Amino acid sequence: MKEIKADNYSIWIGEKSISKLDVSKYSKIGILVDENTKEFCLPLLSKIKKSIVIEIKSAEENKNIDSCNLIWEALSQNSFDRNSLLINLGGGVIGDMGGFCASTYKRGIDFIQIPTSLLAMVDASVGGKLGIDFNGLKNHVGLFSNPKSVIINPKFLETLAENELKSGFAEVVKHALITDKNLWNHLKNSNLLDLDWEEIIETSVQIKNKIVMSDLKEKGERKKLNFGHTFGHAIESYYLQKGTPILHGEAIFMGIILESELSSLSVSEKNDIKNYILSNFSLPYTPSKSNLLNFLRNDKKNFEEKINFSLLEGIGNCTINNLFSEDEL
Ligand SMILES: NC(=O)c1ccc[n+]([C@@H]2O[C@H](COP(=O)([O-])OP(=O)(O)OC[C@H]3O[C@@H](n4cnc5c(N)ncnc54)[C@H](O)[C@@H]3O)[C@@H](O)[C@H]2O)c1
Repeated sequence: MKEIKADNYSIWIGEKSISKLDVSKYSKIGILVDENTKEFCLPLLSKIKKSIVIEIKSAEENKNIDSCNLIWEALSQNSFDRNSLLINLGGGVIGDMGGFCASTYKRGIDFIQIPTSLLAMVDASVGGKLGIDFNGLKNHVGLFSNPKSVIINPKFLETLAENELKSGFAEVVKHALITDKNLWNHLKNSNLLDLDWEEIIETSVQIKNKIVMSDLKEKGERKKLNFGHTFGHAIESYYLQKGTPILHGEAIFMGIILESELSSLSVSEKNDIKNYILSNFSLPYTPSKSNLLNFLRNDKKNFEEKINFSLLEGIGNCTINNLFSEDEL
């Protein structure tokens, strides 16, 4: 089992990490699940006695205020006081929303993240960003708040659908491309399904945690994590508005290909990235520039009407605040 020290909490990684789940001091314990994590992941938490299971429906469309109402209602009806704990057992939707509900219930109770999807393990559970979607806008309402701990058991990945696993892998690829050329070479030369997940998760969490720790509120360094995400979010929003949502990682993979094109990379490096992604992951079609412009124009990171990208300057090195006008794209 590995321990990674984060801001003011620890991230435990490994099959025995569950032993670090200390709930003894709490008056009440809630476990937030969706129907999938209730079936596949909750049994691994059987050692927690006298907990109250709160279930909400899975999927992004339920990451909203209605689900929050159900969670706050369950906490209230079960008389959760300020000395209570909420354990968020699930993917990024459960983690973001459960953390948000815990941090606002009675002005904040403790919460622990137990991510069960690859995306949540390597990305969403690290860094303290919490929130929900609002009126079709992703993560529009939320806050920064840290969990008491994050417990990552790679065993949960055994029941995760392959397309969800591949979607989470987009963030692993991004972490490698922005900071670690050796990791990129390792990924590029490995068969995805033969990877040592514990090792990959640990390396990836270390990369994200180091960046977050150097810039908790995303004033500079943390913007590097946005590589692939400017186009990625526009593509995700395009498909969402069309009524045919795609997985976050699928959009990010397309974003990585497009933003590699804007980056200072050799032709062979650009081709390597594109070929690796296209041969390992089946992606929907990439929308045209005219279909994406409206979403790019509304990107939170824009500055003086220019679109703001984090781009590569060589593999393993990322630069922030690269501004492009619409015509330059
Ligand atoms: N807070 C952050 O910094 C941050 C970073 C990246 C993404 N996110 C958020 O994360 C969310 C996406 O997370 P996600 O990809 O995990 O989606 P998700 O939470 O919807 O989970 C994907 C699906 O997998 C199922 N599932 C999860 N674990 C499982 C398991 N072990 N076995 C079987 N099924 C399982 C879920 O029930 C769901 O159906 C988005 O809302 C995004 O905004 C947050």
